Amino acid sequence: MKLADLPNAQAVFVHDDPEGLSAAVAQRVAELAAQAIAARGVFHLALAGGETPRRCYEKLRHLPVDWTHVQVYFGDERCLPAGDAGRNDRMAREALLKHVAIPPDNIHAIPAELGARVAAARYAAVLESAAPLDLVLLGMGEDGHTASLFPGNPAMGSKTPAVPVFDSPKPPAERVSLGLGALNAARHKIFLVAGAGKRTALERILRGEPLPAARILAAEWHLDRAALPGG
Ligand code: 6PG
Repeated sequence: MKLADLPNAQAVFVHDDPEGLSAAVAQRVAELAAQAIAARGVFHLALAGGETPRRCYEKLRHLPVDWTHVQVYFGDERCLPAGDAGRNDRMAREALLKHVAIPPDNIHAIPAELGARVAAARYAAVLESAAPLDLVLLGMGEDGHTASLFPGNPAMGSKTPAVPVFDSPKPPAERVSLGLGALNAARHKIFLVAGAGKRTALERILRGEPLPAARILAAEWHLDRAALPGG
């Protein structure tokens, strides 16, 4: 199983450890931000949730980014009260957003506290005015899910830019996710995948299983050595 055979991958980068991976992705975000702002005056960035991107966000706050021209969105959110410690936007604020000069109106949180259906409908309208996103950062779960698109979950088949998610196997059960279409329409997609826990999912994807993460087209994968199949 060769990494170069990773389906739909535009490029695969292997880093010695999460620190190296985080630094490399933070640099890529800063590069793509500069390019988009130079070309279109704005950088539409969707942040990933979970734990893996936190270190990348911490590094990104020290890089030269014109945050006044950055519009921030979220790839998915957990239906928890606003400000809850378990929310992805809370992690992103603590690791990055409260440390940089981004105007508060440039941060577009998913109103997941309203419940998945209402929040998804509201967020779809927000995304329509921003599409296509310039960059979507993505994690991958041990079952091969990405954002909050889980294997076998009906949300995978939805065509709306933001989709309500129920019965998520990763708590909480109710979530909102960007839809597969909106993710694939983005100009750039970057995966951050670290740790031995992700090996099996990568092996399954390399064997051709159409897990949600494998359905992201032309993605740039950043892996650490611990996540490598057969490692
Ligand atoms: C979430 C995430 C989810 C995450 C993966 C990987 O809300 O849980 O958006 O898609 O990216 O589960 O999570 P870790 O980075 O914590 O392994």
